[in-house]
Amino acid sequence: MSFKNRLAKMIVDPAFRNPGLMKVIFAIDDVTGVDLVKTLAPFKLMPASAELFQRSFAHFVSGEEISLACATQLSAIAPDRASSGYLLIQAGEEQTHLDHFRHKLDQFGLGEAKLSKFVAPSFKRFGEAIQRRIDCGDYVGALVGNNVVVEGLAICLLEMGCKDLRANSDEVSKFLDFVLEDELHHVRFGERRLKIWNERGLVRERDVADFYGEMWANVVGVVAEIPDVLDSMTIEPAALLAEAKAFFEARFTAAGLAIAA
Ligand SMILES: [Fe+2]
Ligand SMILES: [Fe+2]
Repeated sequence: MSFKNRLAKMIVDPAFRNPGLMKVIFAIDDVTGVDLVKTLAPFKLMPASAELFQRSFAHFVSGEEISLACATQLSAIAPDRASSGYLLIQAGEEQTHLDHFRHKLDQFGLGEAKLSKFVAPSFKRFGEAIQRRIDCGDYVGALVGNNVVVEGLAICLLEMGCKDLRANSDEVSKFLDFVLEDELHHVRFGERRLKIWNERGLVRERDVADFYGEMWANVVGVVAEIPDVLDSMTIEPAALLAEAKAFFEARFTAAGLAIAA
């Protein structure tokens, strides 16, 4: 481990274990306007400021809310009992993730009330687009929107980003790994269900391609709207788009669908 990461670990780990300390750091930011956290930014000890930290978490919270709403409603319109049962378990896991993120934000004194104003417009459109699919009973579209695109993007962000944060803090690593493990299952479920439904003749490839095109446009939009958040996670926008595109399309290939953005 580099000296920089060793040094960072001495500061970041205690801060995450003792939220009061983090709260004080963020409060000093707010009251004095002196961005203490930002002074640590060149070392990537944590996202560059209280606001950037909050904006970064706002997208994770919003993603969990979209997945919770989708899994809950999708379980009621899925065409088989196995899917409905799994989706209920998934909904429980999404609720757990959401509680976890909210608890951390609360501990750090970062109010949730302000969160929604930090969410990128294209990110909000993910949830709206999936809800429209659910409202017209399109369980295939909703599964593609949430279990392939939204959760796949979360996996790319969690795997590509946060490398310094992980190196700097065992506490953060544990927190991110816990979420990542569940999301990998949710995407695997989406891919397998899509394959089974496709084999049963329930999937119209043209419709999936159209909806994926709409979701992909939102992915491109999000990446363009939050360059500073991505930078705080040490993610190169072009690399994220390439990784996400390859990830989504590998899921379609595994399901027997020839779909590309
Ligand atoms: Fe989740
Ligand atoms: Fe999930």
